[in-house]
Amino acid sequence: MRATPTPDLMLEPAFDAAGSGRDAIGASSLANKGLNTRHGTILTLEEINVSFDGFKALSNLTLYIGVGELRCIIGPNGAGKTTMMDVITGKTRPDNGVAYFGETLDLTQMSEVAIAQSGIGRKFQKPTVFEALSVFENLELAQKTNKSVWASLRAKLSGEQQDRIDEVLQTIKLDNSRQRPAGLLSHGQKQFLEIGMLLVQDPQLLLLDEPVAGMTDAETEFTAELFKSLARKHSLMVVEHDMGFVGSIADHVTVLHQGSVLAEGSLEQVQNDERVIEVYLGR
Ligand SMILES: Nc1ncnc2c1ncn2[C@@H]1O[C@H](COP(=O)(O)OP(=O)(O)OP(=O)(O)O)[C@@H](O)[C@H]1O
Ligand SMILES: [Mg+2]
Repeated sequence: MRATPTPDLMLEPAFDAAGSGRDAIGASSLANKGLNTRHGTILTLEEINVSFDGFKALSNLTLYIGVGELRCIIGPNGAGKTTMMDVITGKTRPDNGVAYFGETLDLTQMSEVAIAQSGIGRKFQKPTVFEALSVFENLELAQKTNKSVWASLRAKLSGEQQDRIDEVLQTIKLDNSRQRPAGLLSHGQKQFLEIGMLLVQDPQLLLLDEPVAGMTDAETEFTAELFKSLARKHSLMVVEHDMGFVGSIADHVTVLHQGSVLAEGSLEQVQNDERVIEVYLGR
């Protein structure tokens, strides 16, 4: 559970290197570096409620992600997993509840763009790469999301930016395909490119919704290695139905059901939880 602030920690002066949360928004790299995670928690969701026409998609959802953690979220269809990511990224506003990135950034008050710029990267299930552009150009564009496509391509990359793209190309194993049009990549490679497009922005928290759906076994294995290598430096929240994959990466699993947390623990613990078995068998 959460690293709840202990009383002595709470006596610390409320110092925030990036200034107030609001000040930090917008200056992306600065906000990133200045994100206040003093208590070791990068994401706080408390008592979140979301309803759609009276249907409760999230119901008093409370969940904390630690800095550098690799958390897997499982749960039956309709449990609210994607809706939770929609709340974190500002796509859906909760009816009520608390959602903080670090200690000071109130996600319920920020625009989707400001949330992305503050260091939360999200990958949707369907790859959304620019098919006509090369792998390299896709990464280049992602690095400069605040410019128009052509202005971005014309602007010269700094040495540091170039190095970061090279580093990411190696991380996602696409360094030999850097000049290939993205449209010619396999489905799995497009998924890796999209992860790369997040990585060049150096997000502190990565949200990945069903990342291995449609991947080959080899691609799934590589994704597991990739995520494990990203943890610690980044915090990851991974929604996945593939239990083999979850077992290979997760040290901590949260089970969602009917918009709330049903169980939390190691995969083995939650798989042996009577309530979890009931929910999955009764599916
Ligand atoms: N925009 C919306 N309008 C109405 N209902 C919605 C909306 N978005 C989600 N829902 C409903 O909220 C519930 C939770 O949906 P959500 O997509 O979050 O589930 P999920 O856990 O991601 O499921 P899956 O494993 O199938 O992806 C579902 O019953 C869904 O039909
Ligand atoms: Mg979903």
